[in-house]
Amino acid sequence: MSDTQQRVAVLPGDGIGPEVTAEAMKVVRAAAERFRFDLELVELPWSADHYLATGETLPDGALDELRDRYAAIFIGAYGDPRVPDMRHAADILLGIRFGLDLYINFRPIKLYHESLCPLKNKGPKDVDLVVFRENTEGAYVGVGGAFKKGTADEIAVQEEMHTRKGVERIVRAAFEYAARTGRSKVTMCDKSNVMRFGHDLWQRCFAEVAEEYADIETDHYFVDALAMQLVRKPEMFEVVVTNNMFGDILTDLGAALQGGLGVAASGNLHPGRTSMFEPVHGSAPKYTGQGTANPVGAVLSASLMLEDLGHPEAAAAVEAAVAASLAAGDTTRDLGGGLSPREVGDLLSAAVNSS
Ligand code: IPM
Ligand code: MN
Repeated sequence: MSDTQQRVAVLPGDGIGPEVTAEAMKVVRAAAERFRFDLELVELPWSADHYLATGETLPDGALDELRDRYAAIFIGAYGDPRVPDMRHAADILLGIRFGLDLYINFRPIKLYHESLCPLKNKGPKDVDLVVFRENTEGAYVGVGGAFKKGTADEIAVQEEMHTRKGVERIVRAAFEYAARTGRSKVTMCDKSNVMRFGHDLWQRCFAEVAEEYADIETDHYFVDALAMQLVRKPEMFEVVVTNNMFGDILTDLGAALQGGLGVAASGNLHPGRTSMFEPVHGSAPKYTGQGTANPVGAVLSASLMLEDLGHPEAAAAVEAAVAASLAAGDTTRDLGGGLSPREVGDLLSAAVNSS
């Protein structure tokens, strides 16, 4: 590897993951060529197939290797009906999020063309926000247990965990982003009227961190009200910061406002460290190999990755290519077009090449 070469770990995963990843990496290669930087894309096999063949999910030492030897990680999608408990997906996807301490799940909700929005009379200027989803704690910590399982007296306990450190750093990340990108408002979303301990900690951290950013307006919604407002008046929101589970749910809703899960992108970030990028959609086993998967969510996630790797011009060119293709209707069937994933990948690569 030369001094300037950056190595990217590519994990295509399951279902439509490999199809969309192939197209996203095609576009990344076109961007590297056009903007003259050197990327080494190293494909890693960890997936349901690999698990079923070897019993291995994420191999020993994999997290250290990803952190120390790679500049970024790209993931296609995880989930396979042959692994009903999703063990490999939990080990790999949540394993990387938690193991590499990728505490920011950065999920833009951006409408690229009016025709893709299911809301009446809403356009790109109305749907343009970013969700900062906490990504290492909350309801995802897997703390709890079952008692008298399988009996009529069964008891199940599943805890949420919120730490001052964890809440403070995601809230600060949201304000930092707003300050850096000229957004004027940060909205915090919780359910502190019911979750009187955990979400009260969010309330206090938010108020404290907000004081450091006097120029940025603050706002607060309980999650039920925020879900309603997101549908009624998405233009109210610029940056939303919330816990892991609420962020998961709200970003599926957000994806629908952008044209569906096929379009939504995400970055799992820890500033200054190896971060991971993945489309918001799942592995969609039903659609595997049908030539109908939409690679745009993966391509936009790759654009976030290029930005993180220090190639903002390339990232912008990729995003512009996507925006132009969506505006022209040169897209897959889920968005009313007639192109295959490969045709979309070719078209976007060509657009980046000539940008
Ligand atoms: C997501 C997904 C995951 C999550 C699943 C696959 C564990 O829904 O990335 O939004 O809940 O975080
Ligand atoms: Mn989700």
